Amino acid sequence: MRFLEKAGLPLFHKLDPEQAHRAAVLALKMGLAPAPGLITSDRLRCEVAGLRLPNPIGLAAGFDKNAEALSGLSRAGFGFVEVGAITPRAQPGNPKPRLFRLTEDQAAINRFGFNNEGMEAAAGRLVHRPRDMVLGLNLGANKDSDDRAADFAKVLARCGEHLDFATVNVSSPNTERLRDLQGKDALAALLGGVMEARAHLDDRIPVFLKIAPDLDEQGLKDVAEVAMASKVDAVIATNTTLSREGLRSSHASEAGGMSGQPLFEKSTRVLAHLSQLTEGQLPLIGVGGIGSAEQAYQKIRAGASAVQLYTALVYGGLSLVQDIAEGLDALLARDGFASVEEAVGTGRGDWT
Ligand code: FNR
Repeated sequence: MRFLEKAGLPLFHKLDPEQAHRAAVLALKMGLAPAPGLITSDRLRCEVAGLRLPNPIGLAAGFDKNAEALSGLSRAGFGFVEVGAITPRAQPGNPKPRLFRLTEDQAAINRFGFNNEGMEAAAGRLVHRPRDMVLGLNLGANKDSDDRAADFAKVLARCGEHLDFATVNVSSPNTERLRDLQGKDALAALLGGVMEARAHLDDRIPVFLKIAPDLDEQGLKDVAEVAMASKVDAVIATNTTLSREGLRSSHASEAGGMSGQPLFEKSTRVLAHLSQLTEGQLPLIGVGGIGSAEQAYQKIRAGASAVQLYTALVYGGLSLVQDIAEGLDALLARDGFASVEEAVGTGRGDWT
C-alpha cells in the first residue's frame, strides 16, 4: 500500500486540489489507503480529558467533513479522529476554487466556508460508526443562521450520542464574523448553551474548544479564562491562520485560512503560551504544521497532551501517520520518557 501511495501522490497533485481531496476521501472509503491498524505502545498510550488514546496522533477536522470514510479512518493508525465541521443545515460553502496547494511552502490555503451535508446526514452515518476508534465531531454554525451560537448546541444535541468528543469551532476564518464568537462574553454564552446540550446526553462526552492562532495577548487570556470557567475539557490550538508571513508560492495572496509548515511556529507559540496561562489545569491539543515525528514531539514538549494534523498528509500521504507515531515513540525513548504524559510541557520555555 505504501508503494501505491508513493506512486499515487504525484497523480493526485495533477488534479485540482478539491478533486484530489475528494479522490482521497473516496479512496479511504473504498479501503484503498494505508491501513496499519492499531498503532500503540506503553509509551504512546495516553489519556486526554478522559479519552483513552492508543497514541496521541489525531486527524484534524476538515478532511472528512461529512463523516463518510469512518471505516477507513479507523484503520489508518490515528489515535483519534475528528470529522466535520457539521452545521445544523446543509450548506454549499463558498464558490470554487476554494482550496489551494502551496507546494513550495508545504502549505495550503482554504476558504471552504463550512460546506457540508448538515447534521441529519452526519447523524445517519455516525450511527453506523466503527466502535474501535476514538471519534469526535467538529461543530459549526450556518452562515445564514439567526442564532449562530445556538447552532453549536443543536449539532451536539443531534449527533452527540454517537460521539466520543465534540469540538466547538469558533476559529474558522472562512465564515464572516465567526471568530467574533471568541470574544469573552459571546464565548461564555455560547459555551453555556453547548454545556447545557451536553447535560441532556446520556453520556457526558468531553467538549473541546478550538481557537485561532491569530488571537492577540489579551484575546488569548480571555479565551483561557472563559474556557476554564466554562469547564471545557480541552482546548485545541490552533485552526488555520490569516497570516501570510514567509510564503513563496504564487497562491500566497488567495483569501482564506493558511495551514501546513509555515503555521508550525505560530501555532506552537500560541500553544505554549496557553499552556502557561492555564497552568496545566486544562489539557491542550496541539495542531498546526506538524509533518514529522520531531514536530509532533515539539508540540508535546510545548504543552500538548495530544496532537492533530491534516495538511502534511496532502504532501506525505497517509502513511505519515505511522511514521510519526513510531518516530515519536523512539524520541520519547531516546530522552528517557516512559510516557507521552511525562514529556508534556517539558520544553515550554523554548516557545514563550
Ligand atoms: C481545515 N481545518 C478545519 N478546522 C476546523 O476546525 N473545522 C473545519 O471544518 C476545518 N476545515 C479545514 C479544511 C481544510 C481544507 C484544511 C486544510 C483545514 C483546520 C485544520 O483542522 C487544522 O486546524 C489546520 O489545518 C492546521 O493543521 P495542519 O493542517 O497545519 O496540520
